[in-house]
Amino acid sequence: MAEVTLDLRDRPRAEAYDTLQEHVDAVLEGIDDEIAEMATIACLVHNAFGHLWTGFYRVVEPGSLLRVGPYQGTLGCLEIAFGRGVCGAAAAERRTVVVEDVNEFPGHIACDGRSLSEIVLPVTDADGRLIAVFDVDSEHRATFNDDDRVGLERMMKRFARRPSVSSASVVEATAVAVP
Ligand code: SME
Repeated sequence: MAEVTLDLRDRPRAEAYDTLQEHVDAVLEGIDDEIAEMATIACLVHNAFGHLWTGFYRVVEPGSLLRVGPYQGTLGCLEIAFGRGVCGAAAAERRTVVVEDVNEFPGHIACDGRSLSEIVLPVTDADGRLIAVFDVDSEHRATFNDDDRVGLERMMKRFARRPSVSSASVVEATAVAVP
């Protein structure tokens, strides 16, 4: 089962996430690589539900700037400031944001004009540092509900297993710069 990409659109949502979680765990078994995990999750979530855009924005300047990471879909904006759009709000407030109609979300960034609803989740590492946000966009209104929030928040927990490699290298680089 691990080698296929599942289509779970015909399943009840909560059940679909249970299956998808098992699949993600099976595909990523033995993998300890943040980028490989992000890329695989983006692919499996995107194809399981046929979303418009699915992927990660990584924290490249803590408290300030997100930059696009592994994703599936049409071209994503490259950088988003904390506080801007739905991704920036989720990052600044470190909470899951569900938007039923992006036209009613002040400051929404329309990378793809077809996007009508979205969910964005914070991704934290073992030290509680925000390392990314996970953004899923749909071309239908009110696509995401509490089952999506619960299922995706559970999926993001794998990044809290260990300190982030990117956070570790930031600390290391800072240490080297100190005379
Ligand atoms: N929807 C996001 C922007 C990123 S993209 O759509 C890929 C937002 O408003 O935060």
